[in-house]
Amino acid sequence: MDWGSAAARRKTRKGSDVVREYTVARDDFERAGAASISLKELLQKLGLSPELIRRVAIGTYEGEINCLIHGGGGKVRAVIEGGKIQVIISDHGPGIPDVKKAMQEGWSTASAEIRAKGFGAGMGLPNMKKVSDKLEIDTAPGQGTTVTMTFNC
Ligand SMILES: Nc1ncnc2c1ncn2[C@@H]1O[C@H](COP(=O)(O)OP(=O)(O)OP(=O)(O)O)[C@@H](O)[C@H]1O
Ligand SMILES: [Mg+2]
Repeated sequence: MDWGSAAARRKTRKGSDVVREYTVARDDFERAGAASISLKELLQKLGLSPELIRRVAIGTYEGEINCLIHGGGGKVRAVIEGGKIQVIISDHGPGIPDVKKAMQEGWSTASAEIRAKGFGAGMGLPNMKKVSDKLEIDTAPGQGTTVTMTFNC
């Protein structure tokens, strides 16, 4: 089967939009990655290409981890329609004061405790940019953060 086929693309256009919402609880490392796994399973059922699914899963995972570590918890919303997938990750945390800095590979404010858990390499946001077709960050100090990744099917 041609996974990048027109039939697979049609599945994301046809009928009503597919919308999923997941809650990300603050510092809930037990369930970290749950949204990413669930979305991956949904995209597999829709028959989308493994390469696209891999990119969506990586981006969503990085986003939900940031949400729970840096954002104090929030929501992951996935909208699948019109030949594209949008993953919107939002929180009401401290916001990102300097987005340009945060986008630099290796830049991180993660605490020693978080680093001891294996996070804090400063690679999450750069990877989200790499794997998605478009990355938008809406944030301000004290206003929370909304990261939107768009993937073309
Ligand atoms: N939702 C968020 N709220 C507040 N700050 C954030 C948020 N997401 C990212 N940041 C800031 O941007 C920095 C860079 O994020 P990035 O995901 O690239 O790296 P990291 O989370 O520190 O490490 P890694 O993702 O490699 O484990 C973070 O250290 C943090 O300061
Ligand atoms: Mg990160």
